[in-house]
Amino acid sequence: MEKETTNKIRLASWLQVREAFRSKELRQAGYAEGAVVMADTLLDLHGKAHRERRRLENRLFRREIFSYWEHEILGRTIDITLSPFIENGRGDLSIIGYRCAMNLTATIAGIDQDPAEAKQTEILYGIVKKFSEGATLLHSTRDKDEVREEVKEAMGQFARDFYLPSRNARQLIIDEIESGARDEEDMPKDVLSTLLRNRDQLSLSDEIIFREICFYLQAGAHSTANAFTHTVDDILIWGDEHPEDLELARQDLSLVQRCMHESLRLNPASPVALRTPLQDISLSDGTLLKEGTEVTLDLIQANRDQDIFGAKSEEYDPYREIPDGIPRWGMSFGAGTHACVGAELDGGLEIDPDRPSSEALFGTVAIMAHALLSAGGRRDPDNLPQLDPNSERKHFSSYPVLF
Ligand code: HEM
Repeated sequence: MEKETTNKIRLASWLQVREAFRSKELRQAGYAEGAVVMADTLLDLHGKAHRERRRLENRLFRREIFSYWEHEILGRTIDITLSPFIENGRGDLSIIGYRCAMNLTATIAGIDQDPAEAKQTEILYGIVKKFSEGATLLHSTRDKDEVREEVKEAMGQFARDFYLPSRNARQLIIDEIESGARDEEDMPKDVLSTLLRNRDQLSLSDEIIFREICFYLQAGAHSTANAFTHTVDDILIWGDEHPEDLELARQDLSLVQRCMHESLRLNPASPVALRTPLQDISLSDGTLLKEGTEVTLDLIQANRDQDIFGAKSEEYDPYREIPDGIPRWGMSFGAGTHACVGAELDGGLEIDPDRPSSEALFGTVAIMAHALLSAGGRRDPDNLPQLDPNSERKHFSSYPVLF
C-alpha cells in the first residue's frame, strides 16, 4: 500500500484489494464526473438501491440463459463476423474482436443489431467508445465539458438510431404478453426488456433505463474485445516456445479458457477501481481508510501479488498453480457487491477437473479465441501488431492475422 496524498490512498496487495471490494462501507466513486452517462446506473448505485436493481438484473445472468446465449447467439455471431475474414485469408484481431463483442453485448443489453451489418456495428462501436470516454471522464486530460457535449451528442444519435426502435419493439411485446395476446415464452431475454417489464416496481424513469443500457453497452463491449485480443496474443506468443500447446489450443477449448484466465489476470480491462469510505474504516492489516478519502484499488498490482500468484507472478503461465479459493483471473472481474455480472458469461466457470464436461461453461471470450485459432489464425509475419502509442498499457491499435 502506498500513500499518494493525505486524501488519496492506493491499495495494491491482494488481501487489501479483496477486503476493500467486499466492504459495504466503501462506496463506488469516480463516476460523478461522468454522470452524463453513469448517473444512477447499476455500477454507480450503493446499498439498498444497488441491491434491488442488481437482484432484478441478475435474473438474466443465470446459467440457463448463458446456455441459450452460447447456443443460439454466440455461434451465429462469431460465424458471421469471422467468415468474411477467413474467406479473405486475413483480418485484424482488434476489428474481429470488437465486431463480435459489440454485437453480443448489444444482444444482451436489448439493442437490435444484425451482426451481418458491419457498417452499423462500426457506427454503434463509435458511439459506445464515446460513452466509455464519458464514463472515465475523471481520468481524462481533455476539456471535460467538451467531452460531455460529445457524449450527449452520441447519446442522442444512439437514442434515435438504435435505442428507441429497440425499446418500442420490446414494449409492444411486453404489452401483448400482459394482455394475454402472447405467451410468456416470447419475453425477450435481455436487460432492456427486463427493466421495462419491472420499471414500476423499481420506479425506473425513462432516463434511468436509457442510461443503464448505454452503460451496459460500454461495460460489456470493450472489456470483451480487449480480453479477446490479449488472449489470442498471449497464446500465440506462448506457442512460439510451446508449439504443442498452440496446436492443442486450436482444438481444445478448455485449454483456451485456461489461457484466457491467465491473460485476464495480467491484463485487467479496468486497471483500477475507485471507492470512498462512508465512515472511517480499518482494514484487517490496520490500514486506516478515512471517511471521504479517495481509495484506489490497484487491480494490476493485486493480480501480481507474489504471496498469492508466486514468485513469477509477472510471467504468463497458463499452467500456474493457484491457491484454493483464488480465481485464476485474479480481481479482474472485481469482487463483492459490484462484482461483474458478466463474469461467467465472458470467463465461463472456474476450471474444476471434477466438473462433468456436460456442465462446463467456457465463456464468450474463450469461445471467440478458440474459433479464431481453430480457423488457423496466426500472426502475419509481414505485418507485426502495433501498440497504441497513446496508451501506457499494452493496447493494440492493430493486430494483423492470417488464416
Ligand atoms: C472480460 C470481460 C469483462 C471484464 C474484465 C469486466 C470487469 C468488470 C469489473 C472489474 C467490474 C467491477 C467494477 C467495480 O467494482 O468498480 C465490472 C462490473 C460490471 N460489469 Fe463487467 N467485465 C467484463 C464483461 C462484462 C460483460 C460482458 C457485461 C455485460 C454484458 C458486464 C457488465 C458489468 C456490469 C453491469 C457491472 C456492474 C455490476 C454492479 O455494479 O453490480 N461486464 N465488470
